[in-house]
Amino acid sequence: MAEPDQPSTARMIDFWLGGEHHFPVDVAAARAFEAAYGPCAEIFRSLRGFLGRAVRSIADAGVDSFLVFGAGLPTRGNVHEVAPDATVLYTDVDPVTIRLGQRLLAGSDRAGYGFGDATDIGTIDPAQLHRFVPGWGRRPVGVVFLGLAAFLDDATLARTLDELYEAVAPGSFLAIDFDSEGLAAYPEALAMMGPAFRMRAPGAFAPLLGRWQPTVDGIVPVAQWRPEGEPERVPDAFYGAVAARPAG
Ligand SMILES: C[S@@+](CC[C@H](N)C(=O)[O-])C[C@H]1O[C@@H](n2cnc3c(N)ncnc32)[C@H](O)[C@@H]1O
Repeated sequence: MAEPDQPSTARMIDFWLGGEHHFPVDVAAARAFEAAYGPCAEIFRSLRGFLGRAVRSIADAGVDSFLVFGAGLPTRGNVHEVAPDATVLYTDVDPVTIRLGQRLLAGSDRAGYGFGDATDIGTIDPAQLHRFVPGWGRRPVGVVFLGLAAFLDDATLARTLDELYEAVAPGSFLAIDFDSEGLAAYPEALAMMGPAFRMRAPGAFAPLLGRWQPTVDGIVPVAQWRPEGEPERVPDAFYGAVAARPAG
């Protein structure tokens, strides 16, 4: 596979999680970010722990298929690994990450990887959707939307979440996170995220969920979302929630 000349946040996260699916350009960007902000591995391990708890809670509610947007690398505790009885379609827009993901999942009959722009669910290959998320629109599903909100402006995010609410069957769930305003204290690191990067206060995020109804756990720093034992002591860089399209 030709090496990319631009870093990807997903592959930087793979580096921080101790994975093996990143390139020198990703490592250089991750190290530059850490020089401007501080160590990131514990923060992203905590965020991946939230993914695990959120996905397991959705599976425990009886959901057995997941559609993942902005999926990054399908490894290091990603959705099909924490919900082993479910089927999972991972999607992303970055061609290098998609190819790596397809290679990682080759041979799996439960999980697949394809192109999907979260802001337009019509971009997902219908054959893949029906294979890995059977009964899409008719059976409850889990939609995983992690690491994405920061790259969408408020209007786009609100519209996208509303379209997803409309598309899924009642009884479906959404796992979502967003970046806190903490990075504002590190202007050099913030600049590295580019002009489209969005930080949000929890109060400003809640209305963007529209009709999705957060569980009683609320919208909280990810380490505090249904912690199993003592929450990790990490900066509140990410907030998260699980929200439902209520059944019936
Ligand atoms: C910060 S990474 C998150 C990766 C993974 N979800 C995680 O939490 O580790 C953001 C990912 O979103 C992808 N992305 C950006 N804009 C997107 C869009 N409009 N639709 C789908 N994916 C997008 C990027 O290519 C990247 O892989």
